[in-house]
Amino acid sequence: MKFFIDTADIAEIRALAATGMVDGVTTNPSLIAKSGRKIAEVIAEICATVPGPVSAEVTAIEAEGMLKEGRYLRAIAHNVAVKVPLTPDGLRACKTLSEEGVMVNVTLCFSPAQALLAAKAGASFISPFVGRLDDIGQDGMGLIAEIVQIYNNYPALKTEVLVASVRHPQHVVAAAKMGADVCTIPPAVLKQLYAHPLTDKGLAAFLADWKKTGQSIL
Ligand code: G3P
Repeated sequence: MKFFIDTADIAEIRALAATGMVDGVTTNPSLIAKSGRKIAEVIAEICATVPGPVSAEVTAIEAEGMLKEGRYLRAIAHNVAVKVPLTPDGLRACKTLSEEGVMVNVTLCFSPAQALLAAKAGASFISPFVGRLDDIGQDGMGLIAEIVQIYNNYPALKTEVLVASVRHPQHVVAAAKMGADVCTIPPAVLKQLYAHPLTDKGLAAFLADWKKTGQSIL
């Protein structure tokens, strides 16, 4: 499963890219706003830092405006994936951009029907927001299971399931068990994936016993 990092914070991206665990980045208007930077500048810097797909979202709500913004964003770097909302205009823009060879990430997906439409529109990625469904008492990971099941029925569909709105490590584990293609993970959650108290305890015990030998390997 590919790990994308869900942030526009270039310092976080640089630090996590060094772990070798980062296959791409996703941003959205809220994350760009949080960065305090111009979108073109920060997306260019992210694309130069991470060779994988970097999602940059349009803010127009009509297809023609989405196409203009999407082509502008795509021109920033070869690895830009243009993000469009899952609306009729968004899917019209998705179809045109994907036919032009542009990677498109269709975002704000909350139902299997929406995911099917996005695949038919030629999306490279579909972004179901699992955390926001959980937040209102619905089954976010259940949506992922349905989308994976539907897509697996049609091998000709090339859309990758990109699990988004991830809140904790169990979302990542469940996504992997279901065969999702990508998880976009907030930096804090990625760091949590490494952590287990028994690992820390076991390492401390190994090193304490090793110290007693008086040896050093080198
Ligand atoms: O990539 C989408 C993600 O940033 C949304 O997450 O926590 O705002 O639901 P959240």
